[in-house]
Amino acid sequence: MISRELIERAAAVLRAGGLVAFPTETVYGLGANALDAAAVARIFELKGRPFHSPLIVHVASLEMAHGLALRWPEAAEKLAARFWPGPLTLVLPRDPAIPDIVTAGLDTVGLRMPAHPIALELIRTAGVAVAAPSANRFSRLSPTTAAHVREALGEAVDLILDGGATQVGIESTVLSLAGTPRLLRPGMILREQIEELIGPVEAAGRSEDRAPHPSPGMHPRHYSPATPLILVENGALPPGRGAYLWIGRPAQAARAVRMPEHPAEYAARLYETLHTLDREGWDWIAVEKPPEAPAWTPILDRLRRAAG
Ligand code: TXA
Ligand code: MG
Repeated sequence: MISRELIERAAAVLRAGGLVAFPTETVYGLGANALDAAAVARIFELKGRPFHSPLIVHVASLEMAHGLALRWPEAAEKLAARFWPGPLTLVLPRDPAIPDIVTAGLDTVGLRMPAHPIALELIRTAGVAVAAPSANRFSRLSPTTAAHVREALGEAVDLILDGGATQVGIESTVLSLAGTPRLLRPGMILREQIEELIGPVEAAGRSEDRAPHPSPGMHPRHYSPATPLILVENGALPPGRGAYLWIGRPAQAARAVRMPEHPAEYAARLYETLHTLDREGWDWIAVEKPPEAPAWTPILDRLRRAAG
């Protein structure tokens, strides 16, 4: 476990304008003081992230969240009460105190209270909201361990807090409440669970919104290993030497990895498995296409993006 001293050091780094990588329940984040534009600029630099990609601002309390949003609609109230702390990001009209660089100039901000004791203690101790994208290079796989962060970003990060492997394993659900509720990125908190609480939610990509990047998580190629990844059905593998991730349909491959049948367990293992296979130098990574069921939607989304 992480000592109190280390958390205090990390909090001091954040307050001084530095960058701290920290675990959340989804993936590791690369954090900076959300109100310090210069510190946030270093995040973009380090990741090689385009400036039109807004960052999620992480909070440790509802009061902190209220202070960063211009309005706090009833839907936000209900969702936060039910799912925070947890893997749900709420996009709301932003308070003018948040620097433009954080929100890519949008008049909204993505807010999330992560369900991880280290993340929460870090934010509380720093006493500031923490802007943090996933701690990987732009368009690459998100890190689910501190070792992944070290590999991707190395010495450039001022401090990496190692909290072991993350539990959820894929990035948070992103939901816009700035207008008609709209799903911007599916995650393990499902659209159906959100609709139970607040009524109909528009699916990603089915909007009148003509903004060029309503959510950059919607870039078609994202979350990719360096090895080509393909989705396959009925065990139909390509020629060459590759790795095959299967759930129900085994097949002959140089390397076969059986994945969990339960979506939550599958998600928890997915990036870790892809990181490992990516280092092994295969011609391809073939992934058995998961079922088209609601619980698999976020996983299918990430696999499709990784396949490009
Ligand atoms: O689970 C997660 O969300 C992780 C951990 C670290 O919290 N973070 C993460 O951040 O995945 P990032 O930067 O890799 O992805 C943030 C997503 C992007 O798709 C971005 O477009 C969307 O959130 N987003 C953030 N602010 C937004 C806004 N104001 N409007 C629309 N989309 C926004
Ligand atoms: Mg990311």
